[in-house]
Amino acid sequence: MRQRWADYRVFWREFRQQYHTTGALLPSGRALAFALARFVRDGAPHVAESAAADSEMAVSPRLPHASSRRILEVGPGTGAVTGQIIRAMRPSDRLFLVERNEQFVAQLRARLANDPTFASVTERIEILHASVEDLPENEPYDLIISGLPLNNFSVDSVARIFAKLRRLLAPGGTLSFFEYVAVRKAKSLVSRRGERERLRRVGRLFDDLLAKHEARRDLVLANVTPAWVHHVRFRARSTEQGVRPPAPRAPPPAPCHDESSYD
Ligand SMILES: C[S@@+](CC[C@H](N)C(=O)[O-])C[C@H]1O[C@@H](n2cnc3c(N)ncnc32)[C@H](O)[C@@H]1O
Repeated sequence: MRQRWADYRVFWREFRQQYHTTGALLPSGRALAFALARFVRDGAPHVAESAAADSEMAVSPRLPHASSRRILEVGPGTGAVTGQIIRAMRPSDRLFLVERNEQFVAQLRARLANDPTFASVTERIEILHASVEDLPENEPYDLIISGLPLNNFSVDSVARIFAKLRRLLAPGGTLSFFEYVAVRKAKSLVSRRGERERLRRVGRLFDDLLAKHEARRDLVLANVTPAWVHHVRFRARSTEQGVRPPAPRAPPPAPCHDESSYD
């Protein structure tokens, strides 16, 4: 309980001082954190459940049998979701937290020293004080869980981050992230034209990504602001991943150099 109040205090302060990157008044509630950690808990992706499952889905050679997974949490804040991830981790999984705000980094380090849940994985957790945009891409992650407040960011920034997360994810891995229900609609109602246009274009990036790659979504009503949790698995880019593509139904799209679209 004391921990929770300490987290609320830090969050509220950072919300006021760094609204743009903090994006929420309070840390995520337990139900939202639980939903975000679904694939840490459940292991291999539930391809059969997936709305998007089809023969083009990339199947990782390492995921179903892998006993050790590399898990990345982006924007852990005070660690509300991190706790759920840790509880769901397998004994040899490794967890990397990338957080740009130094106040949150200090809070996470304090939890690592004092919170028994965090301390239970001291040897297998790494806190990276950095922006996700700057992470090296040489060792991909099997699971990525993101708490970034993407709806606050510029269109270019959202496009860059989606593309970056895709590059950071191992083939067949799952990216889980959330957005508050109807958040863009609600913000648009009280925004000026320029801001409405930004939200509309950010919404198109979400729609495009989710239409092509969403494997599952969970609605979490038991959160201060209800939220959708999106779970995304990128389809193989056939040549990159050595998967034979199915016979094309339509002419293949031109190579995409514009990061505002995802294929
Ligand atoms: C909405 S809060 C989510 C915090 C926590 N995951 C939760 O659900 O309670 C967003 C977090 O993302 C962090 N953040 C924002 N932009 C970031 C970036 N480019 N790279 C890494 N962290 C970032 C913020 O500092 C903040 O901790």
